[in-house]
Amino acid sequence: MSSIKTPIWKAEDHTIAKLEILRSYMLAWVPILARNSRVPLMYIDGFSGPGEYSNGVDGSPIVVSKAIHESLSNCLDKVSCSKVICLFIEADKRRYCSLLEKVNQLSDSSISCRCIYGKFEDKIKELRLLYSSHIGGDSPLFVFVDPFGVKGIPLDVLKLCMEGKRSELLINLDVDGIARVYAANYKQQLSQIFGDDSCVEELDIDTFSSMSDKGLRILELYKRQLRQLVGVKYTYQFEMRGNSDRINYYLVFASNHKKGLIRMKEAMKKVDQYGDFCFSDANSHQRLLFEKNSLEDNILKIKNRFMDREVSLGEVEDFALCETTLSSISRALKSMEASGAIHVNVRGGVKRRRGSFLDEQISSIRFTKETTQPMLF
Ligand SMILES: C[S@@+](CC[C@H](N)C(=O)[O-])C[C@H]1O[C@@H](n2cnc3c(N)ncnc32)[C@H](O)[C@@H]1O
Repeated sequence: MSSIKTPIWKAEDHTIAKLEILRSYMLAWVPILARNSRVPLMYIDGFSGPGEYSNGVDGSPIVVSKAIHESLSNCLDKVSCSKVICLFIEADKRRYCSLLEKVNQLSDSSISCRCIYGKFEDKIKELRLLYSSHIGGDSPLFVFVDPFGVKGIPLDVLKLCMEGKRSELLINLDVDGIARVYAANYKQQLSQIFGDDSCVEELDIDTFSSMSDKGLRILELYKRQLRQLVGVKYTYQFEMRGNSDRINYYLVFASNHKKGLIRMKEAMKKVDQYGDFCFSDANSHQRLLFEKNSLEDNILKIKNRFMDREVSLGEVEDFALCETTLSSISRALKSMEASGAIHVNVRGGVKRRRGSFLDEQISSIRFTKETTQPMLF
């Protein structure tokens, strides 16, 4: 659905924000995994682009290669694996040639880069045979899926990438494009995107008048589908808006690991303008001062979810990470304990200090009606 026909084009502000999220995450991902892995890490850019923008901004393959180089050179003494394999897939011949030239200029013994000409959805099946320990296996893999529009991203293909225990995905989910496909009644394309016929009926976005509500509905259903994949326990998103401040796409992250999600939320927060994981070209040069999701709002969400229930600490933490803007739950738990909104049950024989929340000490958390006003620390 892209109107861009030239081999290179200008990076808009939201593109620069997207690349910054990717870069920040790579700076965190590489050292963590390189420390715990004896085999090389793998990065796949499924829709690589030409490697540069007309306004001099580096494209995602170059941004990532530089971040990998930087993070490996900062921690070489601490890592057990010192190599990252990068596979850059691009379907447009001119863009592929431009990328090849850019990538050839990078010389680094710690990164092995391979540019692949072809379609992501076809190439990933071939690559899976060559790199079975990463694609479908349990070696560390990060896949960036950044198409123009909604073509080339059937859920079946993403499923192949996410079968391993240590696979992670960042996808550009063009909800605006999906809404157009829905309006045109292209049911087959929709069921490929969602990996399921029944989702097409469930979507029912005609009932919403605003694009942002339609977008949220699409996002929720899509995240639910992602979480049904074997290697996906956690998902989170970042909203990108265009010049008219209208939703353009969501960047959706999927991972099996809590730590990965925490790091990704930290990376996203760096470009967040509104306090709710959103960037808009309409306000790209300001950081808006009001914080939409205060600690109080997040606490309220958590209390509403668990009111009158007794649950594990892990369940509360998972909910907070995936459904609120919090990256750490300790302040929220402290505040709820102080106001009497939760009662903490400890494991037999454990002496626990009030306000400390260690998984090995806590058997469950009971949500009650508060006795005092919420206390914010
Ligand atoms: C949004 S651009 C990618 C930008 C790049 N990720 C970046 O951040 O610099 C999408 C790219 O995917 C390419 N493309 C389109 N369909 C494709 C497919 N099925 N498989 C692989 N690449 C495709 C386009 O030619 C275009 O260069």
